[in-house]
Amino acid sequence: MPLTLDYTCLVRGGPQGEAGVDPSALDRAAILHSSVTKALADKRAAGRLGFLDVPDDGATVEACLKYAESVHGRFENVVVLGIGGSALGTRALHAALSPPLHETAPRNGRPRLFVVDNVDPVMVGGVLRTANPGTTLFNVISKSGSTAETMSQFLLFLEAAKHTLGEHWREHVVVTTDGSKGFLRPFAEANGLKTFTVPENVGGRFSVLTPVGLLPGALLGWDLRALMRGAAEGRDRCLSPSFGENPAAVMAAAQHLLDVESGVNVQVLFPYSHRLRLLVDWNVQLVAESLGKRTSDGQGVGPTPHGAVGVTDQHSQVQLFAQGPLDKVFTFVRVLHHAHDIAIPAPPAGLEDLGYLKGKTFGQLLDAECRATQLALTDAGRPNMTVTFPEICAESVGEFLMWNMVATAYAGELYGIDAFDQPGVEAGKVATYGLMGRKGYEAEKARVESARISDPKYRVT
Ligand code: PA5
Repeated sequence: MPLTLDYTCLVRGGPQGEAGVDPSALDRAAILHSSVTKALADKRAAGRLGFLDVPDDGATVEACLKYAESVHGRFENVVVLGIGGSALGTRALHAALSPPLHETAPRNGRPRLFVVDNVDPVMVGGVLRTANPGTTLFNVISKSGSTAETMSQFLLFLEAAKHTLGEHWREHVVVTTDGSKGFLRPFAEANGLKTFTVPENVGGRFSVLTPVGLLPGALLGWDLRALMRGAAEGRDRCLSPSFGENPAAVMAAAQHLLDVESGVNVQVLFPYSHRLRLLVDWNVQLVAESLGKRTSDGQGVGPTPHGAVGVTDQHSQVQLFAQGPLDKVFTFVRVLHHAHDIAIPAPPAGLEDLGYLKGKTFGQLLDAECRATQLALTDAGRPNMTVTFPEICAESVGEFLMWNMVATAYAGELYGIDAFDQPGVEAGKVATYGLMGRKGYEAEKARVESARISDPKYRVT
């Protein structure tokens, strides 16, 4: 059953009152929809939007499954070395589709998964000590094949694998990278390593449905065919020329209008599901890196993506959401059916006041809190919408990923920016190369070292 979107509480004059999108502005957005879809269709025809085509790439799914089958039962651990778009989708899918607490109690001969997406030495060292190279598969993932964080991790784990395994290290390393660019591809070829390719026209944060996320998924046993089926269905819905039937178009237009017309530019994704919690991090990167841009006339634009997890953040952030500044729009994610549910036992003598919980399930409690919080924020005049998952499964998660990716692409058109580049990230990368002494970056090293960004007058020591 497909996902649904309800945006009743987003339209001005709705149950939430005056904060919201002007209905006539939404009507105009509906009229504009054909030119937005045309702009996207032109980009797709020019070969720039590869993420729209990956759900049809059955051959890659089968290649990932075939490789996973060939090593089934051989590894206790999969260590993914990657960052940003090469890590966040995998983490999100793992939380959503692997059994809970999988790392502490792996099941069905499936390995544990560690995603090393930081260079914090204590964290990296912890993984190094935990994942014995003898029983570990290292999947180094870098589209560019050159990201300093991932390369430094790779050097470390490569050395450990060689030390433990001698010549057999090659059977423990799989490389996922661009077809031609970067350091990894030639290294992999020279050493006869197994490789998977990130399509040239799929950017990092749009690459979760390429081997970036598919290979770890195949190793962990996720239903990749259903994931891609859901993504394909989501894609088709989100390319609909009919605005009212197109969830991505509605989400993008409404959120864009709230930002530019009312200054409501903090977008809170609020899943009522522990399993969907890491979709928040994935979405934060997708939105922030795609839409936080300078327009051609030099204006900084873009929403601030944020996240909360129900029910956990009811005891953390909901006070701010209900009574703080009116700068946020909420996307609740409601789950109707849980794969396993647990009844709450009858209270013993002395705890009779808890009797109202007796016979209810945890799933019912979670859903009640989702509905109650949505109503509370609506009553507090906060614009919000709700995406409903009939259940959490590979298909529904695939559909949700696609909704968000297409919505981000639409929003790029509405803001008048290129959603597919990330020039703001490059400056930091170049400065790091300078500081770390990379050849060719000597001038940058001198510039960074001589930069005056600290004044004793403003230091507390
Ligand atoms: O979305 C992006 O392009 C980035 O976040 C990249 O995924 C991130 O910088 C990692 O890049 P790479 O996969 O080239 O190592």
